[in-house]
Amino acid sequence: MLAPNMLLFAGNSNIPLAKKIADCLNVPLSQAMVSKFEDGEVRVQYSESIQGKDIILLQSTSAPQDTHLMELLLLADAACRGFVRSITAIVPYLGYARQDKCVETKQVPISAKLIAKLLKVSGIERLVTINLHSDQIQGFFEIPVHNLYGHLLFVEDVILQQKKKGAENFVVVSPDSGGMTRAAAFAEKVNNIDVAFINKKRPLPNTVKVLDVVGDVQNKDCILIDDIIDTGGTLIAAAEALKKLGANRVMAYCVHPVLSGLAVEKIAHSMLDELVVADTIILSEQAKNSKKIRQFSVAPIISDIILEIARKESKTFLDVPVQRVSESQYNPTELQYG
Ligand code: R5P
Repeated sequence: MLAPNMLLFAGNSNIPLAKKIADCLNVPLSQAMVSKFEDGEVRVQYSESIQGKDIILLQSTSAPQDTHLMELLLLADAACRGFVRSITAIVPYLGYARQDKCVETKQVPISAKLIAKLLKVSGIERLVTINLHSDQIQGFFEIPVHNLYGHLLFVEDVILQQKKKGAENFVVVSPDSGGMTRAAAFAEKVNNIDVAFINKKRPLPNTVKVLDVVGDVQNKDCILIDDIIDTGGTLIAAAEALKKLGANRVMAYCVHPVLSGLAVEKIAHSMLDELVVADTIILSEQAKNSKKIRQFSVAPIISDIILEIARKESKTFLDVPVQRVSESQYNPTELQYG
């Protein structure tokens, strides 16, 4: 149960996930109008009383990123003006996080830092997110950030496959050097198997060239671990390189299914045998119907953190042990479509 003072509101980015979270917590989603004025400006208004409440705002800043970001900022601003007690933003996928450094000589922004500033000035006091593009982005925020480890969702699925074929026949692969820590952490959780990595280069934005593969992948089932799949270029090029080196099967486990442009179609015709994603971003109908794509829900892990927050914020929860949703009725749920 949620503390009675807590209200859960959602922007328009991922209503199905917001409903699943509300179901896990056994509470209704509270009502707010989140729409647009005639000229396209975002318009929000809470439909129920929020004064004195602890507000939780659920919103991924996925495409259309600018609208979804603005919905979140305006919901926070309206909450401040409605004299709420606290505002927590739960942003399962934080957009604009990949521009997180100034590359020498290039005159570019650090959008991740700007987003951190915007969330704070809008009145958000705490951020919960999943698999930030890089851990150090947390340092851009001057509010507490809970960066949940989304790949935990996939551990059971991989272990199940290892039981059939033997863990020694699997290797975890990072599709780039930057993802090595993430991949190594996952390998540890799935029977401590070996880790390989790919040395990749981006000659131009959104294009990928594999330079070489470091590690033994021959006759192995490869588990590619990445935070985001966007155009698919990284994972498709990785699968091709791994198969050329004699890999048996190549599966990718990615938390955030950005899947822009022709990604789903390209994956269908690629050497990638399977793509497993979370529901931090809504899948298109084409992706839902793809035979190669499977999806798990992050609702249980988000519900757990909401319960933790509720326990800390409400005196009535102090002496009550929290039953973790993810360990009870909601063990990793694979989503079914059609
Ligand atoms: C890069 O650093 C990220 O971790 C992903 O590998 C990248 O964003 C994936 O993009 P795409 O699917 O367009 O290659």
